[in-house]
Amino acid sequence: MLTCAVLGATGYTGIELVKILLRHPGVRITALTTRQKENIPLRKLIPVLPEALDLEVKRWSFSEIRRAAELVFLCLPHTEAMQTAEAFHRAGKIVIDLSADLRLKDWRLYEAWYQVRHTHRGLLKTAVYGLPELFRSKIRKADLIANPGCYPTAAILGIAPLLREGLIEPDSINIDAKSGVSGAGRKLTPATQFCEVDQNFFAYKVGRHQHTPEIEQALSFAAGRKVRVAFVPHLLPIERGILATIYMKLKKGVRAPAIAQAFKKAYSDEPFVRLRPEGEFPALKDVQRTNFCDIGFGVEPKTGRLIVVSVIDNLLKGASGQAVQNMNLRMGFQEEEGLRVW
Ligand SMILES: NC(=O)c1ccc[n+]([C@@H]2O[C@H](COP(=O)([O-])OP(=O)(O)OC[C@H]3O[C@@H](n4cnc5c(N)ncnc54)[C@H](OP(=O)(O)O)[C@@H]3O)[C@@H](O)[C@H]2O)c1
Repeated sequence: MLTCAVLGATGYTGIELVKILLRHPGVRITALTTRQKENIPLRKLIPVLPEALDLEVKRWSFSEIRRAAELVFLCLPHTEAMQTAEAFHRAGKIVIDLSADLRLKDWRLYEAWYQVRHTHRGLLKTAVYGLPELFRSKIRKADLIANPGCYPTAAILGIAPLLREGLIEPDSINIDAKSGVSGAGRKLTPATQFCEVDQNFFAYKVGRHQHTPEIEQALSFAAGRKVRVAFVPHLLPIERGILATIYMKLKKGVRAPAIAQAFKKAYSDEPFVRLRPEGEFPALKDVQRTNFCDIGFGVEPKTGRLIVVSVIDNLLKGASGQAVQNMNLRMGFQEEEGLRVW
């Protein structure tokens, strides 16, 4: 049995992760952490759990966790995660960090977009970007895994195969993405309060969302050249899910069958990416509470513009589900273990 710790177990991604790990046959949860003074019975956070399950979320010291767990999941806010990742990595643990602290290879980009200093820049070289569909072989060997962001997961999966096959103009990518409110985490902010969100819909951080360089980094890798994108996130008045509508210009002479072929080539063996036939588009309900990314596409007849729609559950394929997928790859479990819907 693999022993696992979840740091930040009271947050949205932490709770989702614990739910998956509890039904994973190869894993035993040995530490669940909070900064709060009082111990919290796990059943208080996840009331459907059986009474017999007496796990508690509590304060743990570094050395207690080091003794208790072989693998450490960090469900902590960015900046908090980098020092914790460094300490456990140095202690020889496998670390899967759900925050943004290890995702960007260039610390200058991190500091520019997150407006904080990166105090552990050396880790950025070591960390492997945990998007299995692009980096599976590296993930299998990685001790430090930077779990991707939610918007980047939806966007990259909808675009990367098309760049790899040279089918679209790399400078023509517009990503119009909408997320449920759980994407912002459990802490309250003025913009995520019920009265601001309910019956409302708005764009935010237009042209300056911190996930932009992460999307560009992965797409540049796929294209083999620098790629820039226009990215506009929106907040939906729902709990969970991301729908990204992506507009791109096709290269001269490229037609819909080539797009279908590129997606098929990239994803036909992928356990968590499902493709729709041309002209059929997925909805949020198709993927909510699952680890799937569903992708549909069509070519707009008047303009010849390619439109891709990519949907995920932000807390699963966009966070905790993908983290378990990465753990499965790293530890040699079946990739779908704990993540099957039936
Ligand atoms: N929500 C998503 O859809 C999503 C998707 C992808 C990635 N992520 C990333 O995953 C990480 C966790 O996200 P989340 O949505 O689970 O956040 P969250 O709901 O706000 O939970 C974060 C948890 O971290 C703990 N924590 C420890 N040190 C903290 C500190 N200094 N300040 C605040 N909280 C602290 C808190 O637990 P205590 O208060 O009990 O100590 C809190 O419950 C973040 O880095 C986020 O960017 C989130």
